[in-house]
Amino acid sequence: MTSALMSVYRQAEVAFDHGKGAYIFDVNGRQYLDFNAGIAVSSLGHAHPHLVKTLQDQAAKLWHTSNLYRIPHQDRLAERLVETTFAEKCFFVNSGVEAIECAIKTARKYFYDKGQPEKNRIITLEGAFHGRSMAAISAAGQEKLVTGFGPLLPGFDRVIPGDLDAMKMAITPETAAIMVEPVQGEGGVNPLSDAICRACGPCVMKTVF
Ligand SMILES: Cc1ncc(COP(=O)(O)O)c(C=O)c1O
Repeated sequence: MTSALMSVYRQAEVAFDHGKGAYIFDVNGRQYLDFNAGIAVSSLGHAHPHLVKTLQDQAAKLWHTSNLYRIPHQDRLAERLVETTFAEKCFFVNSGVEAIECAIKTARKYFYDKGQPEKNRIITLEGAFHGRSMAAISAAGQEKLVTGFGPLLPGFDRVIPGDLDAMKMAITPETAAIMVEPVQGEGGVNPLSDAICRACGPCVMKTVF
């Protein structure tokens, strides 16, 4: 089927009309169990009445004011996330790739502010996927992501997943952070071993930070 959309995705010839909980329904009324979940982002399911009402109420009141002003609901959500997770601060963005950009910039700025601007390199894993911005494809480095988009951004050192020694060897005085997916998706379903996840935490905190 022709489309006025840029042909950057190979789309299946199915279009969905609505959803309910874990199910979605195509335009012909066929029901599917939604294992895709918007690629792992529709974690609250589809059309949850509480969420629908909250969104409808807000849409009828105020759409957008920018970050120049206080946003009471944003403050409240940040407080709840800080109370219930490891986080000390929240930064809200619209997409995964913006979260990655924020993480990269935060790691670099941290060392810049400490007077160590040379600490700006980030260790990543072969086969990684961090999104489709220039920084994110440069970090992942996969051929299928980067072909045709060069020159890439510098500052990323890639190691093979699962090789803790290689990761430790890759750490230099210029390393600012290690950025990994605990379970890779695009590179194949590759979980990092518990041992590496555990070792990575202290290794990042002690050796690098
Ligand atoms: C591990 C990982 N990081 C980053 C992204 C990018 O997220 P977004 O498509 O919302 O920019 C994705 C998207 O699938 C992802 O799986």
